Amino acid sequence: MTTNEQNTQPTQSTPATGVAPAPVTVLVTGATGRVGSRVAEAALAAGHEVRSASRSGAVQFDWYDSATWADALRGADAAFLAYQPDVGAPGAAEIVGAFARRAVELGVRHLVLLSARGEDQARATEDALDVPGARWTVVRASWFAQNFSEGPLADAMVESGELAFPGGEVLEPFIDVRDIADVVLAVLAESERYGGRVLEVSGGRLLSFRDAVAEVSAAVGREFGYVPVPAPEYGAALREFGVPDAEVAFLVELFETNLDGRNAHISTGVQEILGRAPREFSTFVQEAATTSTWKQ
Ligand SMILES: NC(=O)c1ccc[n+]([C@@H]2O[C@H](COP(=O)([O-])OP(=O)(O)OC[C@H]3O[C@@H](n4cnc5c(N)ncnc54)[C@H](OP(=O)(O)O)[C@@H]3O)[C@@H](O)[C@H]2O)c1
Repeated sequence: MTTNEQNTQPTQSTPATGVAPAPVTVLVTGATGRVGSRVAEAALAAGHEVRSASRSGAVQFDWYDSATWADALRGADAAFLAYQPDVGAPGAAEIVGAFARRAVELGVRHLVLLSARGEDQARATEDALDVPGARWTVVRASWFAQNFSEGPLADAMVESGELAFPGGEVLEPFIDVRDIADVVLAVLAESERYGGRVLEVSGGRLLSFRDAVAEVSAAVGREFGYVPVPAPEYGAALREFGVPDAEVAFLVELFETNLDGRNAHISTGVQEILGRAPREFSTFVQEAATTSTWKQ
């Protein structure tokens, strides 16, 4: 992949035909995480055979231990890649590139990488997918709605009663991760059509982090605060929680760049690929309010 320029916007396309695709075997990395769990669920529902992979998953897989890759990949037709800790983290491009080459050697036909909109640090990782013999698709997503309901950010918010985060008052079209899963399934269903494409996807409404927290508060009946903090201050707090220095440095840079307003626009990928609007943030909040730990 020399450049994504001619591919960065999904072309106008009709929705999937509705004809059921032939079942394939899909390796899903990050399968216990926010996106991977939904990709695995959607792939199973579509009749595919799913290999749910992570360090603690049904299929043992570690990005940092290449000895775990071959067993996970052998016999798979396609693989969904959710790199950890972040698609743009230092070293990600080298590891994803090596993984892509191994996947091709083992006969995997299509690699679908979860990436991030506006994240310059992730471009080398996207490019690393373009190894000889690989059909690849990049799904560049906006910030996840489920960051507010699952994972460390949500845990901290529930515990302290406030979200302290370097999001300022920037606007972001938070995407429901189930929409990402549906897009990944559409890509697998029409592998040839989406091969070599970068698909940008987001939710359908711009909200600030303050707006999002206010929607959660209203739905749950518990008042959460939003405290915008400078990225270096947030990094210092992460360091106190034991996050390694190198990861903190990367995250501070990521927040300072990715949350500077560059992503304050809506991408039309969900509508174009799935032929329907993205799930509404308020629907996500209403549903999560009945199940998540927000009520604690
Ligand atoms: N958060 C956002 O808003 C956003 C937006 C766009 C793109 N992204 C990208 O999305 C990806 C994260 O996806 P997510 O939020 O769904 O993940 P997540 O919820 O943070 O879950 C992490 C997953 O990765 C697994 N994992 C952790 N360390 C691993 C390792 N060393 N080797 C293999 N698996 C490992 C975890 O399971 P085990 O603990 O069992 O290994 C878990 O399944 C990142 O690449 C990020 O850059 C995030």
